[in-house]
Amino acid sequence: MKDAAPASAPETFYLKDYTPFGFEVEAVALTFKLAATTTRVISKIRFAPKPDAADPRFFLHGEALNLIWAKIDGQEVTPQMVNGGLECTVPGQPFTWEAEVEIDPQGNTALEGLYMSNGMYCTQCEAEGFRKITYYPDRPDVMSTFTVRIEGSEKVMLSNGNPGTTGDGFAEWHDPWPKPAYLFALVAGDLINHPDRFTTKSGKDVELNIWVRPGDEGKCAFGMEALKKSMTWDEEVYGREYDLDIFNIVAVDDFNMGAMENKGLNIFNSSCVLASPETSTDANFERIEAIIAHEYFHNWTGNRITCRDWFQLCLKEGLTVFRDAQFTSDMRSAPVKRIDDVITLRARQFPEDGGPLAHPPRPEEFQEINNFYTATVYEKGAEVIGMLKRLVGDDAYYKALDLYFDRHDGQACTIEDWLKVFEDATGRDMTQFKLWYSQAGTPRVKVSESFVGDTLTLTFEQETAPTPGQPTKDPRVIPIAVGLLGANGDEIQPTTVLEMTEAKQSFTFTGLAAKPVASILREFSAPVVLDRQMGNAERAFLLAHDTDPFNRWEAGNALATDTRLRMVLNGAAPDANYLDALTKLVRDDSQDPAFRALVLQPPSQAQIAQVLFEQGHTPDPEKIHDAAETFAQSLAQALSDSLPRLYAATTVDGPYVPDAEGAGKRALNGAVLSLLSRLDGGAAAAKQFEAADNMTLQYAALACLLRAEKGADQSQAFFDQWKEDRLVMDKWFALQVATAKPENAAQTARALTKHALFTIKNPNRFRAVMGALAGHHAGFHHISGAGYSLLAENLMALDSLNPQTTARMCAGFQTWKRYDETRQRLIQTELEKIAGLNGLSRDTSDMVTRILE
Ligand code: ARG
Ligand code: ZN
Repeated sequence: MKDAAPASAPETFYLKDYTPFGFEVEAVALTFKLAATTTRVISKIRFAPKPDAADPRFFLHGEALNLIWAKIDGQEVTPQMVNGGLECTVPGQPFTWEAEVEIDPQGNTALEGLYMSNGMYCTQCEAEGFRKITYYPDRPDVMSTFTVRIEGSEKVMLSNGNPGTTGDGFAEWHDPWPKPAYLFALVAGDLINHPDRFTTKSGKDVELNIWVRPGDEGKCAFGMEALKKSMTWDEEVYGREYDLDIFNIVAVDDFNMGAMENKGLNIFNSSCVLASPETSTDANFERIEAIIAHEYFHNWTGNRITCRDWFQLCLKEGLTVFRDAQFTSDMRSAPVKRIDDVITLRARQFPEDGGPLAHPPRPEEFQEINNFYTATVYEKGAEVIGMLKRLVGDDAYYKALDLYFDRHDGQACTIEDWLKVFEDATGRDMTQFKLWYSQAGTPRVKVSESFVGDTLTLTFEQETAPTPGQPTKDPRVIPIAVGLLGANGDEIQPTTVLEMTEAKQSFTFTGLAAKPVASILREFSAPVVLDRQMGNAERAFLLAHDTDPFNRWEAGNALATDTRLRMVLNGAAPDANYLDALTKLVRDDSQDPAFRALVLQPPSQAQIAQVLFEQGHTPDPEKIHDAAETFAQSLAQALSDSLPRLYAATTVDGPYVPDAEGAGKRALNGAVLSLLSRLDGGAAAAKQFEAADNMTLQYAALACLLRAEKGADQSQAFFDQWKEDRLVMDKWFALQVATAKPENAAQTARALTKHALFTIKNPNRFRAVMGALAGHHAGFHHISGAGYSLLAENLMALDSLNPQTTARMCAGFQTWKRYDETRQRLIQTELEKIAGLNGLSRDTSDMVTRILE
């Protein structure tokens, strides 16, 4: 076999270059002969040349494959090995391609393609991993039915679709739904199932299984309930039924991301499916429920209708995130979900949009697609759909979605197809709206108000800063939900959606007896930064009276942010009026505990840095940290006489139930405990740690103790109790870094990388330590530079083993240019070290190059 062409400068792929594949793939049959280091894959694929193909070349992708032989219509052929695959001369009519390749799952530490995790075979093919399994047109617009035969001695051998014949040493599967190769999956190992059944609304009986390693059987029940809820919800809300006889979920320990929606065989990072009260926190339960729903919902938005090419990734991801958020809102509390999502958007997407990695939800070029599974594609992609729904209204939204499913079932689609169904279903022109898909950057919307006679005028101006490759921006359509409140707190104008389309635009409300208080951008109706000059008295009024729960929280959040900014910038003391408003709300038992917990949750230090940056300041991580500490201490003191009572009053009695109500109460209880721990030397936390019968309480207590530097014994006890549980150990690793003092964070993380249970090869463990370090704002940015160099050192060690996870975690450096010169120089040195690494992967090189630009 000939060598592939030598590695050249990384290739850039452009949306404008899209050309369809020149052949139809009529059917795919694969045989796997499993062996840890020498798996053989025999493929038999029926191709039919397309009559007017723009590109008639027969090119099959292939990477790290050892080709044993290839045949066309039974005759051995010698394909030409080219960069990234092979080419071959083929007949002008339909033909059968057969090939045998050898691959090494055991040696595959990149966790892409077919690999091994704790002795079990497992695959990850999205985006372009199938080409590491066999030669194939590995692109999402090539769809075919797959028949799979697995030969091996494993107890359980699974693939997509419905089961066929199974015998001694083999299992066969057939997937009748044409699919792209990125949805292919295979799992084989010594697994145990947690079984159940589901009857669809048209009466189809479906077998359900969650497959886990022996020992994890007790952690499946919650995930199974979440799956059944998701199946019912998608029938009721979107009219979408499941379409196979069986739905399998598999938990795997070594996985680069959260989970994967392979047709009929979803594969999950074990952290995103396994749950028990003793080992999982409330936050874990909620996340697991959401991810199970997300992957299940992909069956329609992603699998039945997929993407034409990877530039369209947000077509399936934005829509599926939007759907899973709707699901969580329906299962739990809609306002709490919305507030949580906005906190995440601001923490993850806004920094991306304002830095060197900024890209539109539908990018127009990439070097490595794996680097585009971003907060912009996912979370902003979902926000864009939320705006669309708000603009056309609920009825029109579901009408458009019905049309989407009707018209495009079985197709590989584009954002243009998606917007066209909205145009056809509503008669609306989507030209300007489409800018949300093509322009990067977060619009800043400045609002001013005037009240004359009986008329309130709101004037909005929108502006978006330049982003890489996009120096100027056009005004977008921005839905701004507004309500008006009277002086007594009554709503005098219920929520109405103003549709802003110009760079500067005014809207009036007439017939008002007195100047109202405007509640603007209710429910966070658009992913923008709202720039509104507002007195703290008005904010406190909204915090007390706004009828929109999101904006009530937002008013408190604005007050908190403002107070902290003044502490950082002017050395001011914590604002007394704000402390007063906050303590009032927290003491008010008539208010929802989940809401009180959210109001008590201070803006993160990274968030304060983000706002400082948005306002043109250079964030000082040390000052931001000190302000956070001072504020928390003052709040604890201001509440001191109520804390013991509040702590007792929010304790949840009875057995642990991971529902929204209990979680809300425990969240408030945890927030109170953390304040109390600042006053009582950790006495209450130590008691709680002793008594805890669930992870939420145990973990919250340990966090308080570690933060107070009083948790050494409990940390050891926690370790002894949980050292056999991988997922709980990830928590133990992360928590020590997260709770370290800024000057100790890097050193703590470094010591943990020397721990016997640390391994760079498991992405969850690596992320536990390095992710916690990058997420510790004052620790990571400590002026010693120790945080920067430790992260860089570990990224360089991981790159040759696992490029995807390495590249992803380079994002910790993306905000570097907003800091002072000293820190910039320190970071630049580390980034250049990474960039100069011999044999640096394409994934990491792409990230580092863009971050440095
Ligand atoms: N499609 C998967 C999901 O959102 C994620 C796949 C991520 N792939 C990657 N290469 N990062 O559910
Ligand atoms: Zn997804």
